[in-house]
Amino acid sequence: MFDLDGVLTDTAEYHYQAWKRIAEEYGLFFDRNANEQLKGVSRRRSLDLILEINQAGQRFNEQEKEQMVREKNRIYRNLLKNITDRDILPGIQGFLKEARERGILLAVASASRNADTVLNRLGIKPVFDYIADAGQIARTKPDPEVFLDCCRNLGVLPHSCIGFEDSQAGIEAIRAAGMRSVGIRVKVTTLAPDLPYQGTEELDVQQVLDYFE
Ligand code: G6P
Ligand code: MG
Repeated sequence: MFDLDGVLTDTAEYHYQAWKRIAEEYGLFFDRNANEQLKGVSRRRSLDLILEINQAGQRFNEQEKEQMVREKNRIYRNLLKNITDRDILPGIQGFLKEARERGILLAVASASRNADTVLNRLGIKPVFDYIADAGQIARTKPDPEVFLDCCRNLGVLPHSCIGFEDSQAGIEAIRAAGMRSVGIRVKVTTLAPDLPYQGTEELDVQQVLDYFE
């Protein structure tokens, strides 16, 4: 089960750029370090985290917060317009192909409501047996809901699944689901991935299977 942003493609960078523009516009502090906390969490929770960091939760009313979230998504979707299959991260296509050839079920477990747009632009939707619909997921990572939704829909038990994540919240969600985790350049603050990699180009199907055997 693969996270999307930062694992299959580098849209994590676009999320960062979009939030950075919002932060600048509203006079809020935001940097790449702070951005680590936003990875894997929903759009609205991301804004709340930025406001928490700035102790600015009370500075904006609900209407303004909704406006900020809408604006962020508009900026983000504009950045998505340039995405093509060239934006699939290195090694991912080969890795998915080999896993599929071995009969391993594949799913996307993303918190993004833009996941469908991104996967369409990347042209890799048909590779997956199941794609979770973030619109149907009530609780954001580190809650395990999105991973458990994938398990249910694939008809598999969590302990036989491996989750691939670039975020700390995602690694916690995988653990909470009772699955094993592969980390892609995770900035660890609380829980380390079972099997860490420094980049997608290092991924190797046999190595991952051997590790969790
Ligand atoms: C992913 C990203 C987060 C993003 C979330 C919601 O989990 O890692 O940074 O906030 O999706 O994305 P959305 O496209 O719905 O705003
Ligand atoms: Mg991610």
